[in-house]
Amino acid sequence: MNAIPLVDLSVQHTQIADEVGSGFADVLAAGDFIGGKAVAAFEQEYAEFAGVGHCVGVGNGTDALEMALRSLGVEPGDEVVVPANTFIATAEAVVRAGGRPVFVDVDDEALLLDPGLVEAALTDRTRAVIPVDLYGQVAPFEQLPQALAERGIAVVEDGAQSQGARRNGRSAGTFGTVAATSFYPGKNLGAYGDGGAVTTDDPALAETVRLLGAHGSPSKYQHTHLGFNSRLDTLQAVVLRAKLRRLERWNDQRLAAAVYYDELLGEVPGVRLPATLPGNQHVWHLYVVRVNSRDIVLHRLHADGVGAGIHYPVPVHLTPAMKDFGSGPGSCPVSEVAAEQILSLPIFPGITRAQQERVAEVLAAAVGGSTLK
Ligand SMILES: Cc1ncc(COP(=O)(O)O)c(C=O)c1O
Repeated sequence: MNAIPLVDLSVQHTQIADEVGSGFADVLAAGDFIGGKAVAAFEQEYAEFAGVGHCVGVGNGTDALEMALRSLGVEPGDEVVVPANTFIATAEAVVRAGGRPVFVDVDDEALLLDPGLVEAALTDRTRAVIPVDLYGQVAPFEQLPQALAERGIAVVEDGAQSQGARRNGRSAGTFGTVAATSFYPGKNLGAYGDGGAVTTDDPALAETVRLLGAHGSPSKYQHTHLGFNSRLDTLQAVVLRAKLRRLERWNDQRLAAAVYYDELLGEVPGVRLPATLPGNQHVWHLYVVRVNSRDIVLHRLHADGVGAGIHYPVPVHLTPAMKDFGSGPGSCPVSEVAAEQILSLPIFPGITRAQQERVAEVLAAAVGGSTLK
């Protein structure tokens, strides 16, 4: 069998190629490359999809997080609580907004920010908390401490990996005061380049985000704020509109693939399956198992043509980039142990059962004899 990639975007492209081709032709004919009609249409369609009042398209997910924080008024010296197990962008955006990330550990089952640990991390300088909907399931927002509301601490949802997910019937992108998402190509809703969005029900925050992304300018050359350049490209909006129409179907295919992996791997000794929190409709951006001797297992998978990955190999608080903010080894033990065990298996809309069976077969052989469960 041919190599099985971690992500294969070709199946999606085949389905939208004609629509994207004619959409691109329209943009080229109109020449509206910045802020063109497709951007406004996508923003409206994505807001409707998520069930939120406002969507502002921006340049990428990291900018979306930074702009969300800046729209809330995060400034130098402010602290923002983030999970230790996430992509670095969650913490990077805090630093870029002038804040200080405060790392909190994740729970051992779903590997999401542990709400029970948040209160102890709050100080007089805490301005916001960023739960991350990691791997495709919404974080347990309703379990965050009451103290947040009492102390006026904002909640920002990092929904980069959860487009289309739901928690207790409510859509990703609607939790917290403001949410950020990423349209990086491999995301559940991925563009053909970089892209991102901020969603919120608060019109004033949406307006501030839009202003920040357009050089702090409410109208041409009227620069009321110090902003930057971060807008969703019109061509990317064409791609995203075509993909959004198919997202639910593709997320269903991811779910079916996850269910099949559960079935194939459920009885394999040494493979711990991913957990879905009660109340969650998971969209399986990543299917992350846990194994002992992960690096050896990964090496064997790669040798046998299985494109597994690690998300993420170093907990953010231990990355050299965060040395001024991280609290050192041992401060987030669940994330630190998980980082040595986690293994992301190939998953994407269109993955075949034969491909999954091959992944399971190679994985079972690679972990043979291990006792982790
Ligand atoms: C959890 C998380 N947050 C933020 C980002 C940043 O998004 P982008 O790569 O579009 O800047 C990503 C994606 O890469 C992510 O996975």
